[in-house]
Amino acid sequence: MIYRTLNNGIQIPMLGFGTFKASGEECEASVLAAIRAGYRLIDTAEAYNNEEYVGNAIAKSSVPREELFITTKVNFRSYENARAIVEQSLAKLQVEYLDLVLLHWPFGNYYAGWHQLEELYEEGKIRAIGVSNFNPDRLIDLLSFNKVVPVINQIETHLYCQRKNEHVWEDKYGVAHQAYAPLGQGKANKMFEEEAVQQLAVKYGKTPAQILLRFLVQSDVVVIPKSVHEARIQENIDIFDFELTVEEVAVLAALDQAAPMTGTPEKPEKVERAMTW
Ligand SMILES: NC(=O)c1ccc[n+]([C@@H]2O[C@H](COP(=O)([O-])OP(=O)(O)OC[C@H]3O[C@@H](n4cnc5c(N)ncnc54)[C@H](OP(=O)(O)O)[C@@H]3O)[C@@H](O)[C@H]2O)c1
Repeated sequence: MIYRTLNNGIQIPMLGFGTFKASGEECEASVLAAIRAGYRLIDTAEAYNNEEYVGNAIAKSSVPREELFITTKVNFRSYENARAIVEQSLAKLQVEYLDLVLLHWPFGNYYAGWHQLEELYEEGKIRAIGVSNFNPDRLIDLLSFNKVVPVINQIETHLYCQRKNEHVWEDKYGVAHQAYAPLGQGKANKMFEEEAVQQLAVKYGKTPAQILLRFLVQSDVVVIPKSVHEARIQENIDIFDFELTVEEVAVLAALDQAAPMTGTPEKPEKVERAMTW
């Protein structure tokens, strides 16, 4: 595993484990398999309704708490109640502190949510605070009028949606870039069939998924692929024994379509849809 240092000095693994749409016993089994396979960063959220199962897996793993990096998110409907929601996450996850808590979307009273996260951060209940789905304009707004600069922005990022512009703005303000849907949620599977990806897979004796994840990690993007299948869980973490060349990274970078599937709510209809959650 390799790590990067966040803007408050703490370290985050460059690869973690996603749990969106993983539920119940299947979620618990997949998180336990991930920790046993060597993942240390686990990503969950209030909205995923699986924090208890993630917590059970953490407890069963017997890995010392300080070796793990646990992220959760406060949903936008809970921002005015963020402190209580974080306390609830702590209880469900069965831990004394969280490594990272994110505002899930830039909707609703996110200033209220951020102020409460800032307090919890200062009290030591959370080691770092950040945001998710924030376009650069929202990010600049938030960090300009508050005390704590988010350590990270978690946004949809993969071969076809590389977020190069967002990355530049994040870099400028010292905000790390974290990719959700790094494998295109298993929907944008044409990525797996791209000729360049296939050729690199053959060259390095790796799978297309491993090439896609390695490309993002080498582009200074933290990835959190999700799978409920043990073979894929192992496959997705096995990306630290090879390195793409600068030229190969450039070839993959040129395949960007700047095409989010879910992504930030650039389009009003996406925001409308989100409000029905
Ligand atoms: N902040 C946000 O708004 C937000 C939004 C979405 C996601 N996230 C976070 O980011 C994490 C990752 O994103 P995601 O789960 O949406 O998408 P993803 O990790 O890009 O893709 C997951 C899908 O790909 C499949 N898959 C996994 N490994 C594979 C492999 N090696 N080969 C082929 N298919 C593979 C999985 O299937 P199986 O499970 O059947 O193996 C699953 O259907 C989430 O789990 C969640 O923690 C955050």
